[in-house]
Amino acid sequence: MSHEVVEKNVGLLALLVILVISVGGLVEIVPLFFLKSTTEPVEGLMPRTALELEGRDIYIREGCYVCHSQMIRPFRAETERYGHYSVAGEFVYDHPFQWGSKRTGPDLARVGGRYSDDWHRVHLMNPRDVVPESNMPGFPWLAENTLDGALTAKKMETMRILGVPYTDADIAGAQAAVAGKTELEALIAYLQNMGTAIKTGR
Ligand code: HEC
Repeated sequence: MSHEVVEKNVGLLALLVILVISVGGLVEIVPLFFLKSTTEPVEGLMPRTALELEGRDIYIREGCYVCHSQMIRPFRAETERYGHYSVAGEFVYDHPFQWGSKRTGPDLARVGGRYSDDWHRVHLMNPRDVVPESNMPGFPWLAENTLDGALTAKKMETMRILGVPYTDADIAGAQAAVAGKTELEALIAYLQNMGTAIKTGR
């Protein structure tokens, strides 16, 4: 019996298992690339500015995602607290997106505009100055580190290859838009933009 051949030959078995998993995976994954609701940006979604893009890299570098998700699930307990649930079209310019799943702190998907820049500045330096019970660490070095923007244009070019519609002018002006700004300013610009493409009614 041919089945017996497969069962007695571990190499062949492994090969066939890989084949089955590959076909099964492709059938599930490939259609997603052609689904409009997951590949088309929501109306009004703008590519991140040069400064916001640098802020995003700082968010990743500092591991903010270890404690914060950026994805509001469509449950009442979440939408009452955070605002409109997240939709795929909000994240099409994010490579990679920062959805996360760990929530030691609150979800940040709609934190843009919720607080003033000043609030963020104080909070990121030492969270306990504004939220006494907070156990979020402070990030005071962000105020001292200055960006030179040497790689900003390159990052934007890479994003463009991945489908983010940056113009030549955006890229040409990238370094000037970033140079001399502190990492704190960049991070706050990123936070203030977060989730603002969809009007949340809050
Ligand atoms: C060890 C876990 C932890 C890390 C790491 C962390 N946070 Fe937090 N964050 C919290 C907690 C807990 C709160 C809620 C208390 C507070 O507001 O400080 C919070 C609150 C916040 C808030 C206010 C959200 C709201 O809706 O009130 C913002 C904004 C924020 N964090 C941004 C950041 C950024 C940016 C980073 C990375 C530089 C970061 N956090 C890293 C735990 C963390």
